[in-house]
Amino acid sequence: MDLAKGDHRVLFDTAAEAPDALAAGACVDALVHCAALSSRIDCESDPARARAVNVDASRRLAEMARERGIHFVFISTDLVFDGDNPPYWEDDAPSPISLYGETKAEAEKAILAVHPESYIIRTALMYGNGPGGKPGSFLAWTLDALRKQQPLHLYTNQYRNPLNAPDVARFIDLLLSHGAAPGIYHAAGPDRLSRFEIGHRIAAAFGLPADCIIASKVDRPVGLGPIDDCSLLIAKADAIGMRFTGINEGLRVLR
Ligand SMILES: NC(=O)c1ccc[n+]([C@@H]2O[C@H](COP(=O)([O-])OP(=O)(O)OC[C@H]3O[C@@H](n4cnc5c(N)ncnc54)[C@H](OP(=O)(O)O)[C@@H]3O)[C@@H](O)[C@H]2O)c1
Repeated sequence: MDLAKGDHRVLFDTAAEAPDALAAGACVDALVHCAALSSRIDCESDPARARAVNVDASRRLAEMARERGIHFVFISTDLVFDGDNPPYWEDDAPSPISLYGETKAEAEKAILAVHPESYIIRTALMYGNGPGGKPGSFLAWTLDALRKQQPLHLYTNQYRNPLNAPDVARFIDLLLSHGAAPGIYHAAGPDRLSRFEIGHRIAAAFGLPADCIIASKVDRPVGLGPIDDCSLLIAKADAIGMRFTGINEGLRVLR
């Protein structure tokens, strides 16, 4: 563990270290738990690690937050749903088809059992800049392929509500500052788009040719495949005044 004085940065392995070490010496009001084994492939190849990181460590962190009387915010995912009956409300029963989704759904349950005042935020597919101000995640590899004009196979039959990453921070701030009721909330952008459409929006926003984008279809193997449509309903967020950014605007400010 390494504490960089000034910005209070702590490097911490949630699966290996006692959570108390995380908050030791710091004046903490809220713990926002984003760390996860988030790749479906990584989870399937090491299920024990997936459970240790995504479920057990999350439960321990929530316990620590409850003991210290601080807020706990858990970043979950739309992939707790199977994509067969969209759009999904917060109280729809999770129906994950991947181990990743399964562990996140288990974590949600475990967290609410040990710290019922927690906030669980199920986020849709996120785009934005990562540390260092550079595009992260799928935005990074999409831009990379577009710039190099390498073949980019994107699904036409897999839908998500792309979510501007900074909106998640704004939403957490809103929940905490308004003392919103604890529980599960959905966070999702207003556009329901296929991966193929998202690729075209990214190309347009960054002024890049989209000729390398190739339409493809999800062929979902039972229990393993990507999801068809995990669109989320956001009435609870709406009710407390949260307005999520549309993808064109979200991408425009990233250019
Ligand atoms: N990106 C999306 O579209 C999306 C959508 C829905 C939900 N989410 C959720 O949002 C959160 C962030 O997602 P992301 O896309 O930023 O994931 P990511 O790029 O895979 O980043 C995960 C982070 O967790 C850290 N981590 C993994 N195991 C850890 C451990 N044992 N102890 C401490 N840190 C650990 C990783 O650190 P290292 O890099 O050092 O391994 C990495 O910084 C996750 O909870 C994910 O489930 C993401």
